[in-house]
Amino acid sequence: STILVLNGPNLGRLGTREPEVYGSETLDDIRASLAASVPADVEIDLRQSDDEAELIGWIHEAVDRRIPVVLNPAAFTHYSYALRDAAAQLKQASVPLVEVHLSNPHTRETFRHTSVISGVATGVIAGFGSDSYRLAVDWLLRHG
Ligand code: DQA
Repeated sequence: STILVLNGPNLGRLGTREPEVYGSETLDDIRASLAASVPADVEIDLRQSDDEAELIGWIHEAVDRRIPVVLNPAAFTHYSYALRDAAAQLKQASVPLVEVHLSNPHTRETFRHTSVISGVATGVIAGFGSDSYRLAVDWLLRHG
C-alpha cells in the first residue's frame, strides 16, 4: 500500500528555513525517516509543491486511487478554499486525511490560528516537529 505525504509552499526550504520554528531536518530527511518507520510493503510517496494547482491535482489523484493522505498545506492551510474543496472529496470518498504541521500554529501569529482544511480532515497533528508526520503515518498504518 501507499501513503501520500503532500507538502505545500516553502516546505522544500526545510533545513534552512527558520530552523528555530521548523527544525533543522530537510524534507529529504523526513522522507527517509518516514520510509524507515513503515513496514517494507508500505510506500511513502512524499511530494512538495509551491503550486496550489499541483497540490490539488495530487489530492484528486488520491481520491481516484483511494490513497490515504498526510497533508502539510503550509500557508495554504489558512486561506486556500480550493485546497479545502479538493480535500472535501477525500472525506466524501471516506479516504483518510491527516493534516499535519511542524509548528503549533495556535501559538503563533493570529492569521495562523485558522485552518480552512481542518473541517474536512480526519484529524490534525501539530507542534511536534517532524514527529507530527510520524504520528500521522503511524495512525494511518493502524486505521488507513
Ligand atoms: C506550517 C505552519 C504554517 O502556518 C506555515 O505557513 C507553514 C508551515 C507548519 O508545518 O508548521 O509553512 O504548516
